[in-house]
Amino acid sequence: MRGTETADPFGRGSVRRRQLLIDTDPGVDDAIALLVAAASPEVELLAVTTVFGNVPVQQTTENALRILALAGADDIPVAAGAQRPLVHPQPHRAARVHGANGLGGVELPLAVRSAEATPAVRFLAELLHGSSLPVTVCSIGPLTNIALLLGTDPGAAARIERLVVMGGEYGSGDVEPAAEFNVWSDPEAAQRVLRSGLPITVVGLDVTRATAMNAAAIARIGASGPVGSAAAEMLAHHLDHYMRVQGGRGVVIHDALAVLEAVIPGVLGTVARKVTVDCGHGPGRGRTWVDRRTGPAPGLQDDAQSAGGAVPRQGVPVQVAETVDLPRALTEIEARLRSYGAR
Ligand code: RIB
Ligand code: CA
Repeated sequence: MRGTETADPFGRGSVRRRQLLIDTDPGVDDAIALLVAAASPEVELLAVTTVFGNVPVQQTTENALRILALAGADDIPVAAGAQRPLVHPQPHRAARVHGANGLGGVELPLAVRSAEATPAVRFLAELLHGSSLPVTVCSIGPLTNIALLLGTDPGAAARIERLVVMGGEYGSGDVEPAAEFNVWSDPEAAQRVLRSGLPITVVGLDVTRATAMNAAAIARIGASGPVGSAAAEMLAHHLDHYMRVQGGRGVVIHDALAVLEAVIPGVLGTVARKVTVDCGHGPGRGRTWVDRRTGPAPGLQDDAQSAGGAVPRQGVPVQVAETVDLPRALTEIEARLRSYGAR
């Protein structure tokens, strides 16, 4: 779906489509997120960059190519990114949740298109420098590529109009008792990004966990056509995990909610909070600490000075998602997945 204009759904002529780049580690919920983005008239999906995470980056890149081909969007470039975290190797991946191939064992048709020769971070920098329109970046995997962009081309990073991040937990974690997978996979990268001062919205587990897609919705998506059928097959794998392992009410499609917020700003309610990441090597590694105190933290700077700087700077505020319009979110995600129809 190309072009920077689209018909205004309210019949007011044409409206400018938001320019969007997704950084991802497909991943079943990443796949759903990409399908939602490619079916959204409000945005032009400019490119996809990939990163290690649920499975190795060679696999996440292959998966991204196949997902875009499935969506009929194989004109969208895919550039491969970081193979590993900034500092410490990731102890394990998430194959037990996403299957060995990252897509719940579903073999999507081969993509004709290959990944770009340009590595993701340089590709992202060139895209940002070259775009005459504001660009939204949505990061739904470990934040390594974004951290590397900040380090190698801060001028490009400064051109990001909005960075929506699926990451962190502000209640209880998933991969560890206290940590969410994307942040836990590269805590140093997450810390770097969250302290960058970029206009960031973080979408954590406490809001994504509410976005559970039940079996009936998956069946409706599956009956909508070949794209919906492939999506339902991937979701069915996830459903088994969530119902069996997490005793959930359905498939939690974390990344699709973050992408929906990038596509329809406001589907989430956010509050400006200071967030810092535990980059230690104890049981809390990868935990995101959010300061919910209202107003400036009393005396924190004094403490830092008196303690010789031992008190960690609490960073700059980011928008933390704290509420979700759940009926709207689930309806919009299902509608976009079914909109592929018989094509
Ligand atoms: O914790 C959820 C996140 O980890 C999602 O991005 C999912 O794809 C996994 O990568
Ligand atoms: Ca992901």
